[in-house]
Formats: sequence, structure tokens, C-alpha cells
Amino acid sequence: MLTAVVVTAVVGVLVVVGVCADEHQQEGWRDVEVLRRGRDWGTPDGALVSREGLLLEDRQTRVRKHASAPAYANAKPVPAKSIDSMPEAFDWSNVRGQNFLVPNWNQHIERYCGACYIHGSLSAAQDRIKIAKKGLGPDIMLSRQALLNCISDAVGKNAGGGSEGCNGGTSQEVYDFMHKVGLPDETCNHWVAKATKKCDAEAMCMNCMAYAEPVMENNKCWPVKKYVKYFLREYGLIPQDEAAIMTEIFERGPVACSLATDDVFDYNYTGGVWTRKNNMKNSNHVVEVTGWGKTKEGVKFWQARNSWGSYWGDNGFFKILRGENHMLIEEDCWFTVPDWKEEQSLREGQVVGGMFGLREKPRASENDDLNFQLELEQMAESAAGHGTSASMLHWGSLVVTMLTGLVIGAAATAFSMRRSARANYNVIS
Ligand SMILES: *[C@@H]1O[C@H](CO)[C@@H](O)[C@H](O)[C@H]1NC(C)=O
Repeated sequence: MLTAVVVTAVVGVLVVVGVCADEHQQEGWRDVEVLRRGRDWGTPDGALVSREGLLLEDRQTRVRKHASAPAYANAKPVPAKSIDSMPEAFDWSNVRGQNFLVPNWNQHIERYCGACYIHGSLSAAQDRIKIAKKGLGPDIMLSRQALLNCISDAVGKNAGGGSEGCNGGTSQEVYDFMHKVGLPDETCNHWVAKATKKCDAEAMCMNCMAYAEPVMENNKCWPVKKYVKYFLREYGLIPQDEAAIMTEIFERGPVACSLATDDVFDYNYTGGVWTRKNNMKNSNHVVEVTGWGKTKEGVKFWQARNSWGSYWGDNGFFKILRGENHMLIEEDCWFTVPDWKEEQSLREGQVVGGMFGLREKPRASENDDLNFQLELEQMAESAAGHGTSASMLHWGSLVVTMLTGLVIGAAATAFSMRRSARANYNVIS
């Protein structure tokens, strides 16, 4: 009898361990694991370069300078054309009336996070996806949060790499991750400005529901295991050369460039071409460069996008002197060649979407009810073990109804109070 109990317990433990281990065998996680072991992030002089004159919190962003012989992947930029052969002004926000830039970002909410390298690099990559799709909608924003959750695991201190998530990193690290692991879009995991999870399947892509069957749970979350991932076929460093950078932008889309910013720029840029010099020797920031132009007075500039909100600078953008490696903007620019095949196969109907992620296209004989039934069964399996009583369903819906009533009541009261406040004001004026 005792033996039977022990054997059952051991088998039980093995099953549980097996399930957990299986969880970690999720596709994304396994790729990260390969990366982690591979240690092929490759800058030989990989020391973190600290920002000069650290004064303010924002200065904590650190960028690792690329090595003289960077281990960039597998590709060279497009051959540089002469500057004269390209337009005097060009920007991806307006190519013959069409915008190819997806929305602005703010890396600093809801808390400060030194993730400029994620934002600048992904901004350029996601705009290049839009360009590769020739503007075909919907626009996608890459999941900065999935990257943050997983990149610090992949290249963090333990792996001897440079990135520490919210303490800075490089475009090379971001692009190497996208090249090898791929990234979902923002709908898989939205930005909260700190690494929230160890890099398991849920850290890459998740969903939550209020579920009634088989047990009531108001917020049941689960990893989404199959979703569209965007990869980079190629990425690499562009030579420090005005024409080479312009050619990459013109031919294939925005690029990500490091920048050596200081407080005057961070806090006092209010528009126009930034020409004020600082003598900083190391970059501490990464931004997206989307185009170029020339002022009426003949000052050449890069058009660049920051990741500090639309209220910063010129609607989130800034212009900076072009052709003089001003504030180091030309010495560490990276290009990407996106791969959006998985989105294409979804469009072509080879897979279909659902609450639990992508799945194979159902056979013709299966109807929607049956599919939904299958999903419920799947749900029941993953919910097993978190069991609350089924009768909670009724209490749950009662509570929801009462709360809804309260919210509507409060909103109505607030509305009528505002109306009467306005009415009073009108009387006074
Ligand atoms: C920004 O400009 C204001 C107003 O001119 C000035 O008081 C402040 O010192 C400047 N800040 C920096 C960091 O230069």
C-alpha cells in the first residue's frame, strides 16, 4: 500500500516536472536558449561605455560601442550611390504623399527604462516591415516588451553579454535576436517598461480571458504558443559615410543610429537643426533616422525620430546636422532586411487565428461550433489544477453585473455634476 502511494507520488512529480519542462520547450524559449549558450553576440571589446557627465536620470542609458570588427551577421549594406544621384530631401513619413512610418513611442513610461536601443532599433525595423509590405495594412508595432523580457535573459550578465534590459544595449543585440528568434507584434505583449517575466512562452506572447467554463475565473491568462513572428533575414552595420547611410535609407528604409546626447539636447531641443557641439566620445542613445533634407540657408540635416513621446522635440522627431558625424550620429548606423513570411502565410489562409493563437486551417467538415468546443476543451486542460467551484460562475456574473451598475451610476453622477459645474460657470461669465 505504502509502496503504491510512493510510486504514485513519484510518477505524479515526474508528470508535473515533465509538463514544466515541456513549457520551457516552447519554440521561442528554445531559440533563446540556443542564443544564450551560443554566446555569439560578439563584440570583442564588449565593455559597457558609461555616459559622460552623468547628471540626470536619463543619462543612465548606456550603449556599448561596436567593436572595430563587429560580428555583424550575414550581409552588407546596399552599395553607396553618390549623394548627387539622390533627392535633396527625402523622408519616409512622406513619400509622394504616403507615410511609411508606424506610430511614435515613449520608452520612459510607466517608469524610466533605459531601452533606447530597443526602441530606436525596433522603430527602424518595423518601418522597414511596412515598406517591405508596400504599405499593406494593418501597420504592426513589434513587441518591445517581449524583446525586453527575453533579451536580458539571452544576453544578460549571466551569459556574459552586454544587455541588461533597462540598462542599455545595442542595435546589434536587438537585430541578432530578431534574426535568430523572431519577434511578435505589440498585441502579444505590450510595453510596461520593465522586464516582467523570465523568458518563457508567456513572456513572448499571451492572452487572458474571463472564463465561465469549466470553472469561473475572472482573469485566466495563458501563453499563446503559435503567433506570427517577424524575423530579419539580414542586418548589419553601415560604414560611417553620409552617402552610404543615405543610400540605405533611400533604397530600403529607415536605419537605427547611435547618438551622443547631453542634457542641453535632451531637455532643450525645441525644433530646427541641432548644430550645437558636445565633445562626448561615446554614444549613449539610439534613434531612428528616417530621412534627410537641407534648410533654406543650405544647412544639411538628418531627419530622426526619438523615443521620448510625441510631446518631445518636433512631434517626437528632431533634425541634426548631416555629414559631420555630429554627436556621433553617423558612426554606428544599422540596416535590416525584414522577413514577414509568417504574416504572409496567415494572409494566404494556411493557418487561421483564434483566442489561443494560430492553428492549422480546420478541415472542411469541421464547423465553427466544433472548433469552439475543441478550444474549450483545450482551455479546460490548461485550467485544471486552478479549480474554483463551478458555482462561482453565478456569483461571478452577479458581481460583474453589480460592478457594472456601480460604474454606470458613478459615471452618470459625474456627468451631471460636470454639467452643473459648467452651468454655474456660465452663469458667472
Ligand atoms: C534649458 O533652457 C533653460 C531656459 O533657457 C535653462 O534655464 C536651462 O538651464 C537649460 N537646460 C539645460 C540642461 O541646458
